[in-house]
Amino acid sequence: MDLLLLEKSLVALFVAIILAITISKLRGKKFKLPPGPIPVPVFGNWLQVGDDLNHRNLSDLAKKFGEILLLRMGQRNLVVISSPDLAKEVLHTQGVEFGSRTRNVVFDIFTGKGQDMVFTVYGEHWRKMRRIMTVPFFTNKVVQQYRFGWEAEMASVVEDVKNNPDAATTGIVLRKRLQRMMYNNMFRIMFDRRFDSDDDPLYIKLKALNGERSRLAQSFDYNYGDFIPILRPFLRGYLKICKEVKERRLQLFKDYFVDERKKLASTKSMTNEGLKCAIDHILDAQRKGEINEDNVLYIVENINVAAIETTLWSIEWGIAELVNHPEIQQKLRHELDTELGPGHQVTEPDTYKLPYLQAVVKETLRLRMAIPLLVPHMNLKEAKLGGYDVPAESKILVNAWWLANDPAKWKSPQEFRPERFLEEESHVEANGNDFRYLPFGVGRRSCPGIILALPILGISLGRLVQNFELLPPPGQSKIDTSEKGGQFSLHILKHSTIVAKPRSF
Ligand code: HEM
Repeated sequence: MDLLLLEKSLVALFVAIILAITISKLRGKKFKLPPGPIPVPVFGNWLQVGDDLNHRNLSDLAKKFGEILLLRMGQRNLVVISSPDLAKEVLHTQGVEFGSRTRNVVFDIFTGKGQDMVFTVYGEHWRKMRRIMTVPFFTNKVVQQYRFGWEAEMASVVEDVKNNPDAATTGIVLRKRLQRMMYNNMFRIMFDRRFDSDDDPLYIKLKALNGERSRLAQSFDYNYGDFIPILRPFLRGYLKICKEVKERRLQLFKDYFVDERKKLASTKSMTNEGLKCAIDHILDAQRKGEINEDNVLYIVENINVAAIETTLWSIEWGIAELVNHPEIQQKLRHELDTELGPGHQVTEPDTYKLPYLQAVVKETLRLRMAIPLLVPHMNLKEAKLGGYDVPAESKILVNAWWLANDPAKWKSPQEFRPERFLEEESHVEANGNDFRYLPFGVGRRSCPGIILALPILGISLGRLVQNFELLPPPGQSKIDTSEKGGQFSLHILKHSTIVAKPRSF
């Protein structure tokens, strides 16, 4: 009797094993995941790869696992793309399928779960927000309306630096002054406002809250709670701070900028198109019922991070490379002097007849890409990519930095050499006409701010080099260009002191 039972049990076990193997084989055949390190239960690959998923660490993983790889970070699937062909597939060919965005627990807070434009999924809301933002921000008309303002801001920077006796001797942290310039460039467009002094209390408050938002959002410190839900209770304190910063920041935008503009609009006639700044257009859309008040504030939030910091980091990187490569700085100065003549300060239309200046800007954006992994993309539904199955709602990181710094595809990519964009890479533009070079992305979710960023970069770097000899501080032969990477940002680790010796014309 017992023997019969044992026999039956063994047969049942055998059948169960065969069944399990068959099902797993069938599943395996049905679902072919991209290669990657073998995950362990609950944690996935988190214990193996750690928190710091920066562009360099991800490039190393790509060398091991290939141009498409999958990381299981606790509950999150993360797909890393490291070839121009697959980047084309994600951003262009399957641009709709991969055109959404993921948000982690922190970005959920800062964007009100995607009520903004940058971090919302691909769909009706995104289309509407992008359409509403285009006329007030992203057209050549805007560039032509505001370029005089940008040129005036840069003239004011040059003046202030010349008047600072430390600039020519011990050096100054140039970035500090350029930061106010970038705020002014964008706040002129948004609100027709500018800040006269670094000591303006409103400017100080705004800068502090924006800085806090970036630090909290770009940090890798909260990954554990985002990846592994059972650890989320430990993140409660962090998320509480995020919520407070978010509330205070949106309130500041509302009280001091949006409501102030509304008051002004109610006293002045705004029928003259020339008087309209971006927020007037955005408020028109709210009045028509296309968007709500929160959406308005999230548009202001998006511009504060997407526009100001990225451009500022790029200017800062450009200065660092020019200081560390005096021969390139001199060559650029020579172009400016000979093309424009002594004393003529570079303007937006001038930038188009200054190929070396443009090459310096492109090379800065190549080697020191401000958003090296683009803003994370996402597929709402299960999708196919490079012959593999990508599970629904995977975070897709396109390693744009690696595409532009892969030695198999670029000549000595580690060198800062603007000449490459006049020689072997002369056809390559920053707008994504070559999938190896995507500093602004390409396709549906590409950066609409490129139209503003490129002239601002040209005017800023051009005028600095025209007016000053930029050098490392006394006793240093180079400035430190160590990097600080974030969730998807890349900036210089230390805001360097720069000696700016005025030139006499
Ligand atoms: C050097 C400066 C800048 C760089 C390097 C840069 C880079 C980028 C990148 C890589 C993306 C993501 C592309 C993708 O995910 O495929 C992006 C998105 C975006 N950028 Fe920029 N950007 C810069 C300046 C600006 C400026 C000045 C503005 C606005 C005035 C701006 C507004 C945006 C917006 C709104 C998005 C989101 C687009 C969407 O999701 O549909 N950016 N940017």
